Amino acid sequence: MYKWLLAVLLMVVVFAACNNEKKEAVATGIPEAQWWKEAVVYQLYPRSFKDSDGDGVGDLKGIISKLDYLKSLGVTAVWLNPIYESPNDDNGYDISDYRAIMKQFGTMEDFDALLKGMHERGIKVVMDLVVNHSSDEHEWFKQSRSARTNKYRNYYHWWPAEKGKPTPRYSLFDVNHDAWMYDSVTNAYYLHYFSRKQPDLNWENPELRKEVHNIMKFWADKGIDGFRLDAFQFAAKDTTWPAFPAGYEKNFLLYYAVGPHLHDYLKEINTEVLSKYNVMSVAEGAGNSFKDAHDMVDASRKELNMAYAFDGVDLAKKDGYSILKLKEIFTKWDSAFATNGWLSIFLANHDQARLVTRYGNDSPAFREVSSKMLSTFIMTMRGTPYYYNGDELGMTNIRMDKIEDYNDVATLNEYKHLVATGGNIPQFIETIKFTCRDNGRTPFQWDNSVNAGFTTGKPWLKINQNYTTINAAVQDKDPNSTLNYFRALVQLRKDNKVLVYGKYELLDKRNPNIYAYTRSLNGKTVLILLNFTNKANAVSLPTTIQLGKTLINNLSNTLTLTNGSTTLQPYQACVIELN
Ligand code: GLC
Repeated sequence: MYKWLLAVLLMVVVFAACNNEKKEAVATGIPEAQWWKEAVVYQLYPRSFKDSDGDGVGDLKGIISKLDYLKSLGVTAVWLNPIYESPNDDNGYDISDYRAIMKQFGTMEDFDALLKGMHERGIKVVMDLVVNHSSDEHEWFKQSRSARTNKYRNYYHWWPAEKGKPTPRYSLFDVNHDAWMYDSVTNAYYLHYFSRKQPDLNWENPELRKEVHNIMKFWADKGIDGFRLDAFQFAAKDTTWPAFPAGYEKNFLLYYAVGPHLHDYLKEINTEVLSKYNVMSVAEGAGNSFKDAHDMVDASRKELNMAYAFDGVDLAKKDGYSILKLKEIFTKWDSAFATNGWLSIFLANHDQARLVTRYGNDSPAFREVSSKMLSTFIMTMRGTPYYYNGDELGMTNIRMDKIEDYNDVATLNEYKHLVATGGNIPQFIETIKFTCRDNGRTPFQWDNSVNAGFTTGKPWLKINQNYTTINAAVQDKDPNSTLNYFRALVQLRKDNKVLVYGKYELLDKRNPNIYAYTRSLNGKTVLILLNFTNKANAVSLPTTIQLGKTLINNLSNTLTLTNGSTTLQPYQACVIELN
């Protein structure tokens, strides 16, 4: 009898403990408070983070060895790019087994240890869910392509060749830009919006949807804390395959994003999986309008928590970008989401070249100061910040000259396309030095030992030779480094809920050089001033403004106001309380 009672008591205690672990302290007195709104998400690209076994590829044990570094940043969540079994046509975005860990990265035991280690340090783990497509080496596809009558046939989109050629569809990664690939085994074409080795899954098939729900439950049951839905805005297709107008591929998002029933699929995911766990969800892509984005993320609709909109991140081009436009985009998105829905704030990720090279200035004179300025921007906007690994060091584009040194499937296939069609190769190489995703994927620069301390073997992608001066070890010791500035910013955001929830207001709107705004919450107002240029510039503020305590400044000169005006040094960033 006693034993029985004891066992029940023990179960109650364990249950309460587990439940507590999941509950997060969120800001009190703020009705809309949620842990995922207060999170600082650090995006970690496992292939390039830290190699533990000398094969030149980052791995889970490598990440485990750097957990204390992650904790030292203060970040509260880590989004891991795909770590599942994959032939790596697109570095893990082509999954051949959704319930297994990529052998190069380690084992499921390693993953369990990683998750535990993150949780012990108060860091949540968000996993990539890549289910617009699988790998062509996934068992489903192997079966699907084997016979028209196979039970997995309808897990993918097929077009029987006896009906002629299918309606054209554009592929982002295909050598010929053709999303239909002929397969002689069953004399049919299959659809692939990305590479030929990434066939699109058929979301119109309820059995496939159920498989995905079960995969999500498998990971949620392990205790992960969120999902990033890769390319999910493309998942729903009109399978009557209507023709699109000539030239549609130049604006394919208009035709591909948010297809029929996408919201039904998201609601179903919410009912079947998300609502049953304390997990956050974020979609890559936010459709074509604010309405699309709201329909995905408004709480009352019970779909997702957040989406990434690309307007901001797509702005930077080789010849620069308009600061006025940047201000306009972020302001527009903020006002559209001022009362309903929630945003993701980011300017970089694994699909972009480096933050400081694209939005700042990576010359020796301005690299550090402009990196700090950009970090200040990301960490003081309204929305959940997603911060890409290596940007805290101010890592820069590698700018490789030879196509042989590149790895990215998108770049390599575009190169082949240009060779086949007589395109301008030298111009292409110049462009990819600025744009190619490999620039953002070069191994993490830990220290100035061989291979930047990333691997003892041959790195899978070249290491940026500036690692001897730009690395975590050197910056850790320097109180003025970009790394320590980032740590201070994270702490500032944690200590000041006004930076999370506070109302955003743009100031000096027409200033082409300076981005100035306030954040206000419960009577407290904070002013953020950011000089986006390499020249000193003045900003005009309402004359009623009185500067109070400076919360953070990336330079040592203190700002003072004269008739509402003050001058910021090149790339200066300041966060100041208002009296
Ligand atoms: C997403 C990923 C990108 C990948 C593509 C195909 O855009 O972020 O890295 O190549 O989907 O999965």
